[in-house]
Amino acid sequence: DLDMMRRAFDEHDGDVAGVIVEPAMTNGGVIPPLPGYLEGVRALCTEKGAVLIMDEVKIGCRIAPGGATELWGVKGDIVTLAKAIGGGVPVGAFGGKRELMEQISPLGPAVHFGTYNANPLGMAAGLACLTKVMTDETYAEMTRLATRVADGMRHVIKETGTSAYVVQLETLGGIFFGLEEQPNNFREAARNDAARWDDYWFGMLNQGVIPMGSAWFEEWSMSAQHTDEDVDRTLEAFESTLRAIA
Ligand SMILES: Cc1ncc(COP(=O)(O)O)c(C=O)c1O
Repeated sequence: DLDMMRRAFDEHDGDVAGVIVEPAMTNGGVIPPLPGYLEGVRALCTEKGAVLIMDEVKIGCRIAPGGATELWGVKGDIVTLAKAIGGGVPVGAFGGKRELMEQISPLGPAVHFGTYNANPLGMAAGLACLTKVMTDETYAEMTRLATRVADGMRHVIKETGTSAYVVQLETLGGIFFGLEEQPNNFREAARNDAARWDDYWFGMLNQGVIPMGSAWFEEWSMSAQHTDEDVDRTLEAFESTLRAIA
């Protein structure tokens, strides 16, 4: 809500050091940004002298090689990354404009120590993941498979007359039961039928498919390991689950 953000900036004029934004929300179901939203946040931060931090922990390296920054062309002053960039090994990273990064020791006053900083295993796994696994071909294949899943789910939803909305964001997606259109914020998303989502999730588990994270506010995502057979199996289980819970 850009108007609300501008009001918050005005109410705390000069006191706002920065704004942290998850460019596409993935902890309230999958909620892509409305057109113009990220550009508006960027412009406000620039106007007010606040640092814009793009939290790409969940979407960086997943929705595009350059994450949301590449997909929507809006640059933060700092970007945070984790999860997928480690290729299965726990890794976190952040980067940003030179003048900000130079604030960190040994160049600047801010200390950033940690037991696992630059951990050799994490760095080796991350490098291999980013340079050898996550190639352009891999992204294209993951997006193709994710599109198959999303289209297949929409087809089954229609066939079974289920009230549900499927969202796809490149290689990941989500499902909201009881909603017929894309929610644009958490409050709208929270109006979903969470009990029906539970039926879906356990129905899928009973058929040997873990369809996504373990709550309605999570997402499903394609990995470099998934194949057409996985998609077939998921869609078969989805169809029989929806028929069972309809
Ligand atoms: C969007 C988002 N940002 C940041 C984090 C924080 O990650 P961590 O707990 O590793 O600091 C999470 C955790 O899942 C997250 O979902």
